[in-house]
Amino acid sequence: MTRLSDNQRSIERYRHHAAGYDASAERTMPLRLRTIALLALKPGDVVVDVGAGTGLSYEPLLAQVGATGRVLAFEQSPDMFAHARRRAERLADARLWHVNAPAETVTLPEPADAVLFNYVHDISRTPAAVDNILRQARPGARIAMAGMKFFPWWTGPLNLLAWLKNRPYNARPADLWQPWDRVARHCERFELQATQWGMGYIACGVLRRESAAAPGRQGESA
Ligand SMILES: C[S@@+](CC[C@H](N)C(=O)[O-])C[C@H]1O[C@@H](n2cnc3c(N)ncnc32)[C@H](O)[C@@H]1O
Repeated sequence: MTRLSDNQRSIERYRHHAAGYDASAERTMPLRLRTIALLALKPGDVVVDVGAGTGLSYEPLLAQVGATGRVLAFEQSPDMFAHARRRAERLADARLWHVNAPAETVTLPEPADAVLFNYVHDISRTPAAVDNILRQARPGARIAMAGMKFFPWWTGPLNLLAWLKNRPYNARPADLWQPWDRVARHCERFELQATQWGMGYIACGVLRRESAAAPGRQGESA
């Protein structure tokens, strides 16, 4: 039997989640908006929606980047992206650019001022994916993250619950001790708060110069 890569396993999982995703994510909308607020977006900003799923963050992001800003998004699952594409068609907003592509290889059309990692555990645990995204952002870009994490170790069996909740969605569900750390190491002023009684986190920071796009580097069109 051929072993699937993490990317293929994730695509398989989201084949089953895509249809019901928006309904299941509705109750976490306040957390999504809180995470987006950490980006402190300004008119004219270019913001990246990492692993955009069905595009649930498109509208709140577009609302904050003004007439000259842009939202750049990518998503590897064809099933999730089909929903995002329909949402984009409804929005018909020229400020939105999105593509069905994996984080490890996506090329953004221009450098970003802000990057949103909202519940994208498999991406934020993959150094090649994190590096590829962040090297396309400007030095000082604002980064915001949210996701699941394990409870403190001394709560013991409660982490079985965290693992079980994470397993249907992520290729590496046991990797929940510090799921932000591969992004945090690229940031200055990284701040973290626990959410959902300790089973989640929300975080933000500012991209270090050495992790960012080289000065003067222009993005290439996809
Ligand atoms: C829990 S969903 C979150 C979607 C969206 N960020 C949101 O807030 O609703 C995780 C998403 O990450 C996508 N994903 C996982 N690995 C990826 C990769 N390597 N490149 C791009 N997208 C990926 C999945 O297909 C899925 O749509």
